[in-house]
Amino acid sequence: MKAAVYTRYGTPDVVSLSTLPRPLLPADGVVIRVRATTVSSGDARLRSAHVPAGFGLPLRLGFGMFGPRNHVLGTEVAGEVVEVGAHSRFAVGDRVFALLGASLGGHAEYAAIRDNGAVAHLPRGMGFESGAALAFGGTTALYYLRDKAKLRAGERLLVNGASGAVGSAAVQLGKYFGAHVTAVCSGNNADLVTLLGADRVVDHTRQDFATLRERFDVVIDAVGNCSFARCAPALADSGRLLLVVASLGQMLGAMLRPVRSGRRVLCGVTPERAEDLQLLAQLAEIGAYRPVLDSVFPFDRIAEAHARVDTQRKRGSVIVTLVEA
Ligand SMILES: NC(=O)c1ccc[n+]([C@@H]2O[C@H](COP(=O)([O-])OP(=O)(O)OC[C@H]3O[C@@H](n4cnc5c(N)ncnc54)[C@H](OP(=O)(O)O)[C@@H]3O)[C@@H](O)[C@H]2O)c1
Repeated sequence: MKAAVYTRYGTPDVVSLSTLPRPLLPADGVVIRVRATTVSSGDARLRSAHVPAGFGLPLRLGFGMFGPRNHVLGTEVAGEVVEVGAHSRFAVGDRVFALLGASLGGHAEYAAIRDNGAVAHLPRGMGFESGAALAFGGTTALYYLRDKAKLRAGERLLVNGASGAVGSAAVQLGKYFGAHVTAVCSGNNADLVTLLGADRVVDHTRQDFATLRERFDVVIDAVGNCSFARCAPALADSGRLLLVVASLGQMLGAMLRPVRSGRRVLCGVTPERAEDLQLLAQLAEIGAYRPVLDSVFPFDRIAEAHARVDTQRKRGSVIVTLVEA
């Protein structure tokens, strides 16, 4: 099969198409013919080995010290099931989307995943391109807003980085949970986040949200430019600061001293769970959540897709489509 391969950390040109054996069918899993995938901010981090302060060594210990151990990136895919193991909950021909997590492998014509992994049926009527973009931002926003912050109806939520993959999902899920949502992005993306449901937009090129003289119950940072010291004036007395992008120091600080003057700082790594994908699919079916597509690249231009992600200006997700072999 064709796969996008990288054998050293670096700029987008380290990625090129190659031929690899098809993944084997797991005894308790499925093989998916990948129709669309994304280059996520996570893929770009693993390609470049550019991670928040303090995570450089852990990344190399986990993924390869002098070069990547796993040569195929790709965290999320949408496609058709082409092989199933015994007693699978899927059938050949099912249209599915999946989050492959740290095992990666989505930038290839075929991907394998165990039945108990994060794989679910695509929402009715949804195409593969949109399906590929449902999970990465959506599961992260769910994990932080629902599981970490326990966001409640009527609370005031601020989303920093509201036009990215995580932020655009956080705006929509924040509205779904009944919060009043303030979205922080550049003026270029104000219309987008308003369409997604934001009650108010702050243009970060004109105003620092921390100086708004307004206090929020929950602040979710999907940019990486927030610290407790910076955000404290914007947090309500029992407010929660969600650091989706945290340095190792911030993560340890949040674990050792989670409560600061009544406010909590929360970090973590989003888990991959089939039930979260099923919920996102249900929300998509009722129109409460839609993935935002920034751009679509054919598979042989995947290096350009990486370059687009590296601009840190993408709106939602960068899609890569695969043609049949
Ligand atoms: N902890 C976890 O488990 C977890 C899971 C997933 C992702 N992440 C991390 O979360 C981060 C966000 O991921 P993503 O895929 O959503 O990123 P992304 O899509 O690449 O974010 C791009 C967006 O960020 C906005 N942005 C850039 N600078 C900004 C600023 N100063 N203020 C406000 N918005 C700004 C841009 O909007 P404008 O052009 O309008 O400025 C752009 O739309 C990444 O660092 C990723 O590694 C962590």
